Amino acid sequence: TQLEFDTDVLIVGTGPTGATAALALATEGIRVHMLSRWNWLANTPRAHITNQRAVEVLRDLGVEEEAAKYAVPWEEMGDTLFTTSLAGQEIARLRTWGTGDERYGDYLKASPCTMLDVPQPLMEPILLKNAGERGAQVTFNTEYLSHVQDRDGVTVTFRNHITGQDYSLRSRYLIGADGARSQIAEDIGLPFHGQVARAGTAYVLFKADLSKYVAHRPSILHWIMNPVAGFGEIGMGLLRAVRPWDEWIAGWGFNMADGEPDFSENVVLEKIRTLVGDPELEVEIQTKSTWYVNQQHAEHFSVGRVFCGGDAVHRHPPSSGLGSNTCMQDAFNLAWKLAYVIKGYAGESLLESYSLERAPVGKQIVARANQSRKDYGPLNDTFRVPGQEHSIEAGLARLHAPTPEGVELRQKLQEALEGKNYEFNAHGVELNQRYESAAVIPDTEAGEEQWVKDPQLYVQPTTRPGAKIPHAWLVDRTGNRTSTLDVTGRGRFTLVTGLAGRAWETAAAELDAPFLRTVVIGEKGAEDPYGAWHKVREIHEAGALLVRPDGYIAWRQSSPVWDLETARIELRTALDTVLGHA
Ligand code: FDA
Repeated sequence: TQLEFDTDVLIVGTGPTGATAALALATEGIRVHMLSRWNWLANTPRAHITNQRAVEVLRDLGVEEEAAKYAVPWEEMGDTLFTTSLAGQEIARLRTWGTGDERYGDYLKASPCTMLDVPQPLMEPILLKNAGERGAQVTFNTEYLSHVQDRDGVTVTFRNHITGQDYSLRSRYLIGADGARSQIAEDIGLPFHGQVARAGTAYVLFKADLSKYVAHRPSILHWIMNPVAGFGEIGMGLLRAVRPWDEWIAGWGFNMADGEPDFSENVVLEKIRTLVGDPELEVEIQTKSTWYVNQQHAEHFSVGRVFCGGDAVHRHPPSSGLGSNTCMQDAFNLAWKLAYVIKGYAGESLLESYSLERAPVGKQIVARANQSRKDYGPLNDTFRVPGQEHSIEAGLARLHAPTPEGVELRQKLQEALEGKNYEFNAHGVELNQRYESAAVIPDTEAGEEQWVKDPQLYVQPTTRPGAKIPHAWLVDRTGNRTSTLDVTGRGRFTLVTGLAGRAWETAAAELDAPFLRTVVIGEKGAEDPYGAWHKVREIHEAGALLVRPDGYIAWRQSSPVWDLETARIELRTALDTVLGHA
């Protein structure tokens, strides 16, 4: 029956969603074919913040080091300025993306990976190249037109833009990774909430050497409080480094009611020079574009054999840097499930868990990214006097006044900056996902999870089913550090137990399942000399965790099991339930 299908998975879109899905599927040896209407990949910088969870995905897929080569290193990402211009008076600085003393340790503790800054035109080729090398087929200049699904598969019609011909391909499954204007999401009638284009932003990509302004306070993002770029809810202009420190984006909000922004050469040049604060600055303007602030998410992500992911199902502004990160994680969640069903390891019902697990994340990040824009309000209130002609000058004079009012405003400024941690140090938003679906068996004895700290700001490691396995440094056979994330994942389920977990080890070995490995923490290859796993495991040493290929915990047995028969029954029941065989 293989012959009935041209491929097993068709993917429309070669962006972060499609390319990650193709890479993950090809890594698992699944026949996959991705197509894009354009001639190549992203041709503008777009997303760049790559958070630890996305880097963990890259690490699992074996491309972390390659991505790091192209990245602005973490240490140089985050001394974000709030200033009147790059050369001008600073109002405040915020240590962002976990680089500050207060948060650095939290980030180190949570993951074997650092944050990276990799612009999309550099990231996408890494994903695509590796996917291709591992067997994925790639076709450009080809537009998706329509599809029909039946009981066994999907027939998809494309138009080849080079020959002008239409043709069809048949596949078992279709992934709609076709971006914010997804035709596929529309064709399968996904229900959306929210609105698109609620505000407009102008982006100008330019070359100019700004290193002297940032060498002593490196950051990929700076906010400029200046009348030339003061429109909209953020109320500030933006200077974002694309390549340190000679390629940048200047961004500012524009009034959509007035139509497109004025992009004439002298207006744009003047704006850039004002934002930098250097009237003589040599600037080479490269591209000018607009984008619109969306606030929209799909209630669910799939219908039958068709699965949408990425911007196709969650559309939001770049604030909080969640765009491509969430796309890559959607793809990673979906890919192993498709691979398992195609290989016959799991029943088709496993695929329903994709939407159940990822749609709540989509909803959350759309709300978070939009709220992050609105949270500039209190900041603006501290340095602007509304209604005045020179509202920023007047505001700054008031802010710096040696008066009780000045003291109060400076207090308010600190509080407003604290609020920006929800955009720039929202470690919990990035890593605290909890999945609920049939691919997760809740630990009924554990009760509701209690959040010890603010779940948006702080990571809470736990081995509760539905959470990602906590990172802990172990030691491998060579004596080097290896993460709990390194001894799990890579396409397989992992039964994690301790030295006392002999019954589990035997039960797993008896199953002889090609998709299951056992890791005994404490044994050679996965020793715990730091006691790091001991601290976070929450289960008895003779208990067990079943970790899915995507690093999320499917099931746990917290109390000890010593006898083989119990271990056998429990493990088999857990696997059958999670894989949809129960
Ligand atoms: P993406 O839109 O990247 O890819 C869609 C793919 O589908 C493309 O390959 C396209 O060719 C293909 N396609 C669409 N319709 C098709 C059809 N009918 N037939 C065939 N192929 C079709 N995010 C962020 O986090 N920080 C940021 O700073 C920015 N900045 C930014 C600037 C600009 C100008 C844009 C356009 C976007 C951003 N983003 C962003 C958003 C970020 O780029 C976005 O989240 C991801 O690219 C979405 O990835 P996807 O893979 O889901 O879709």
